[in-house]
Amino acid sequence: MPAQTILRMVGIPEEDIEAIKKWCYDRLKVSFGCQTPEEQMFAVDRMTQLFGYLENFVEERAKEPRDDYTSGLLRIAAEEDSDLKVEEIVSMIYSLSFAGHETTTNLIANGLRQILSRPGLWKLLREDPSLLENTVEEMLRFDSSVIAWRRMTKKTVEIAGVEVPEGARIFLLLGSANHDESVFEGPEKFDIHRENANKHIAFSHGIHFCLGAPLARLETRIALELLTRRLPDLRLAPADQRFEFAANAQFRGPTKLWADWSPTRAKAEAIR
Ligand code: HEM
Repeated sequence: MPAQTILRMVGIPEEDIEAIKKWCYDRLKVSFGCQTPEEQMFAVDRMTQLFGYLENFVEERAKEPRDDYTSGLLRIAAEEDSDLKVEEIVSMIYSLSFAGHETTTNLIANGLRQILSRPGLWKLLREDPSLLENTVEEMLRFDSSVIAWRRMTKKTVEIAGVEVPEGARIFLLLGSANHDESVFEGPEKFDIHRENANKHIAFSHGIHFCLGAPLARLETRIALELLTRRLPDLRLAPADQRFEFAANAQFRGPTKLWADWSPTRAKAEAIR
């Protein structure tokens, strides 16, 4: 669902969405992944294919603009005093074609895992959808899909008594900060009623704060709202399934999440 949303917004033709989704999974594995040189070469080849595809796509839109985000950017680039270059647009679309869905898809999967493995929570959310907004925040805090990010220091700084020199490359553990016991009481408890759940830094902080945060929050809430309403007896199947994750230090989400529900109840809900 997140892939369909962002890629349609960008203007990618419907028939290519599935292929892009697959290419992005390779990109996820190679970014801070743990791959053999052969696997890295394979993934980089796929990423190059994706970049080439997007270069052609932007070129097509420049010739024949439509009502989509890419054509909008190209219109801005064509303005007389515009600083925006076509190569930058390709790069932006390349970035969005990954950041705009893998992250949110994984958040929904991480959240479903946490909710469905706690008896009674699914029913509670179905009966009281007003709890969903804070539930999404607690999902982001407790089990986010982007658990680390990169930074480089612009000047020497002191962090918690440690001097970090200028130009140091830092790997920020956002997931760990979201379990900081000095900010969150009982951080290892998944608590959808937590009053300060939204004090997490899952979308980072500062001028590079995630551009897609409002969209990610909206999509996740809608996904939960529809699923709780239309699949009222959704459950993990088997309940004690073992989750596997792509070997990756930055992006986190189960490669598979098996669930079951009763089709007749789902059908009745869909008709209602
Ligand atoms: C649960 C979903 C998401 C999470 C956890 C997430 C997390 C993040 C994080 C941690 C950053 C790094 C910011 C930094 O450098 O400090 C970021 C940046 C970014 N995100 Fe997201 N993101 C999500 C969804 C999205 C979506 C849906 C979009 C697009 C529609 C998006 C687009 C971007 C972009 C373009 C940036 C770069 C911003 C910049 O450097 O100025 N993200 N995101």
